[in-house]
Amino acid sequence: MDVIELAAERPKPEFNFKLGRTPGRYIFETKDLVIGYDEPLSKPLNISMERGHKIALVGANGIGKTTLLKSILGLIPSLGGSVELGENLEIGYFEQEIKGENRNTCIDEIWEEFPSFSQYEVRSALAKCGLTTKHIESLVRVLSGGEQAKVRLCKLINKSTNVLLLDEPTNHLDVDAKDELKRALQEYRGSILLICHEPEFYQDIVNEVWDCSKWTTKIL
Ligand SMILES: Nc1ncnc2c1ncn2[C@@H]1O[C@H](COP(=O)(O)OP(=O)(O)O)[C@@H](O)[C@H]1O
Ligand SMILES: [Mg+2]
Repeated sequence: MDVIELAAERPKPEFNFKLGRTPGRYIFETKDLVIGYDEPLSKPLNISMERGHKIALVGANGIGKTTLLKSILGLIPSLGGSVELGENLEIGYFEQEIKGENRNTCIDEIWEEFPSFSQYEVRSALAKCGLTTKHIESLVRVLSGGEQAKVRLCKLINKSTNVLLLDEPTNHLDVDAKDELKRALQEYRGSILLICHEPEFYQDIVNEVWDCSKWTTKIL
């Protein structure tokens, strides 16, 4: 416990992702996919992602980037067409916004996800993400946006994944955490689909950029 207390003085995050097994060749493929809620947000989309690719998804706010990720994941129904997910995917999803009442402490939050962890393992996993002892024992909902993002990254890096779908993960992060996330994503051997507005962040990670303004039907 002493070690954690000392480390908590100036917590530097370490985000080492756990790589899962190798998935099939395709991560996903869409056929004439139309995304949207009440009205279509896109033209029929025929896009695919291959294993190992690292892609940034860019475009103005409100254009439909988050909606596209959720449609690919099957979290919301599409308005037309279909999405086929590849085989043996172990998906890590970082949501842009999490709504709803959360009455968990950070410790509860990690324990729910990893019930086999000991109390020590839960605390050290959170400390490694740059959270102090005080944060770790607090309710998640009283933490700042950046601290909450660290709790969510803690969940993401401690399970094995072979594809990461990250929706604006840098939004609330401080400089140290952002640098460390960039380093970890550069090192990650899985596939990445990253929504991000900051070229300084994504250009050293991805090898392809998809511009959503090409297929949106939204007039902003
Ligand atoms: N749950 C929802 N119900 C209805 N419309 C929504 C919902 N979520 C988002 N939208 C609308 O869909 C459009 C695209 O939103 P979104 O995918 O979040 O954009 P982006 O992630 O590119 O900023 C916006 O006009 C937004 O208002
Ligand atoms: Mg969004």
